[in-house]
Amino acid sequence: MSRARPRNGGRLAVVGLGPGGVGWRTAAASALLAEATDLVGYSAYLAMVDAQVAGQVRHPSDNREEERRAAQALDLAAEGRSVALVSSGDPGVFAMAAAVMEQLDRPDRPAAWESVEVVVSPGVSAAQAAAALSGAPLGHDFATISLSDNLKPWSVIESRLAAAAAADFVLALYNPASRHRSSQLERALALIGAYRDPATPVVVARDVGRPGETVRVVPLGEVDPAMVDMRTVLIVGSSQTRTVALPGRARLGVYTPRRYPEVSAGA
Ligand SMILES: C[S@@+](CC[C@H](N)C(=O)[O-])C[C@H]1O[C@@H](n2cnc3c(N)ncnc32)[C@H](O)[C@@H]1O
Repeated sequence: MSRARPRNGGRLAVVGLGPGGVGWRTAAASALLAEATDLVGYSAYLAMVDAQVAGQVRHPSDNREEERRAAQALDLAAEGRSVALVSSGDPGVFAMAAAVMEQLDRPDRPAAWESVEVVVSPGVSAAQAAAALSGAPLGHDFATISLSDNLKPWSVIESRLAAAAAADFVLALYNPASRHRSSQLERALALIGAYRDPATPVVVARDVGRPGETVRVVPLGEVDPAMVDMRTVLIVGSSQTRTVALPGRARLGVYTPRRYPEVSAGA
């Protein structure tokens, strides 16, 4: 990564918007969005940037056009523009930062891109936001697994789920369903159920930080795939995860203790 960079190039900032409303956004992300000459992103995510900046140009695209979108953002930056390429949540978690790195790793990478400064600005991921709204289910070791088999074989997903479930990780499950895909969650729950008690708490969080947000805590044995769509993230507890009454709140909180019971407090 020690390529020399001419000074007259533009900048590509890959910006995490957080899960939804501006209240979840970092100050650094908001500053990069305000400074940008151009905003590039999936149209639904660009709509989450409500602040209009005079002269700023928006370049919306369709959901499945990540490669073209990343290349477009680099091309604009190579013209000297200050580009913010937006992602929901954290851009490094199943999102556009890796798509940009894939473009930079191309053997036929355009010479014009050498002048571009690339920065990645982190955001609050859906799993982090769902965890915060439900208590502290990610309080001990956890694994984050996407159930989408668009970009990896289902056999890989299955073996990772089984290994992580057997190792007693808390599991954050992304992309649990889509318009074209509903059976994966059922299969994933069956697989996890072979290792976990049916009473294990599961956080089912939909549209976190957005209008209509719902956060439910459901025993593993009662998770109904009908509760889940592409705007949902699930957090499946480990053997140690438990519920707790939160003062003044009707809904139970969920947490995973930092310590296993066999490890004494003085250890
Ligand atoms: C392509 S991934 C993007 C993840 C994102 N970069 C992040 O850090 O959270 C899309 C998946 O993230 C989850 N997700 C994203 N935003 C969400 C939200 N506001 N509420 C619940 N789940 C969300 C869903 O599982 C969705 O299918």
